[in-house]
Amino acid sequence: MSGMLVAVCSDKGSPGVTTTALALGAMWPGEEVSVVELDLAGGDLGLRLRDENGAGLPSKPTVVAYAAATRGGGPAPLAPYAIGLGGGLGVVQAPMTREVMGALPNVLSSVAHSLGTGDGDVIADLGRIDSASPEIAIAAGADVLVVVARASRGAVRRLQERLSLLLSTVAGQRGGPIPTYVVLVCPRRYGRGHVSDIEAYLADRGVKVDGVGFIGWDPAGVERLERRGDRRGRRMRRTTLGRTSARVAETVATMSDGSGSYAESSTGVS
Ligand SMILES: Nc1ncnc2c1ncn2[C@@H]1O[C@H](COP(=O)(O)OP(=O)(O)OP(=O)(O)O)[C@@H](O)[C@H]1O
Ligand SMILES: [Mg+2]
Repeated sequence: MSGMLVAVCSDKGSPGVTTTALALGAMWPGEEVSVVELDLAGGDLGLRLRDENGAGLPSKPTVVAYAAATRGGGPAPLAPYAIGLGGGLGVVQAPMTREVMGALPNVLSSVAHSLGTGDGDVIADLGRIDSASPEIAIAAGADVLVVVARASRGAVRRLQERLSLLLSTVAGQRGGPIPTYVVLVCPRRYGRGHVSDIEAYLADRGVKVDGVGFIGWDPAGVERLERRGDRRGRRMRRTTLGRTSARVAETVATMSDGSGSYAESSTGVS
């Protein structure tokens, strides 16, 4: 049974894709999970994260080495490229610049295939994408697509206009619609209101998504997530960021319909 591949992206701006991907990793219901940076604009986690002992991350390995290992076509193990963050959470970081990431587009479909057929659950940070982005190859191979947006009126209108296009491109590549979850990043007290507004707004305009949720704006939670060792611990869970991300993670973890383009054919055994 292969693990789940969750692709996290945005359509525009920097609404919090990387933060959301990491927070979902920290709160993921499964024991082992890897957050893999596949944003071709370059990675952020190498700069932001501290390991369990408070030290910065080593600059290697990176996702570029993992991508090279997938070239043969078969699934390459992810573990040698992941840096452990404690509690079963690992991160595969991207180099910081687009220039170094430049070789990746050619191998993204083998990366997607490898991530989609590997053992562990993977949360992939695709950054900002549109229907022409090479990262679409990863989205098309994912079990669930998580689209992150800010809850402002402008951001939501844009999302509505672009989401249909993005989802139809992904569906075209994978041969069917992808289970899609929209995450709004907003102050916690407005979360529920924004979620129901946006559900109604998207439904009115015929944009079909499988769920909408929110992650609370919480700078102190982000600080803890990035800099403290106990990312999967109780104290992280008590922050606004932890609680709201846990709710999203639990929903997303149950959303795979098994139709990921690289999912194994169903054997009835799990
Ligand atoms: N839930 C949140 N609470 C508080 N701050 C947040 C939250 N989510 C994101 N941020 C902050 O917003 C900024 C952008 O977040 P992030 O880097 O995750 O966005 P991104 O969409 O990945 O951006 P980029 O396009 O640069 O990759 C960061 O300073 C981050 O700390
Ligand atoms: Mg990012």
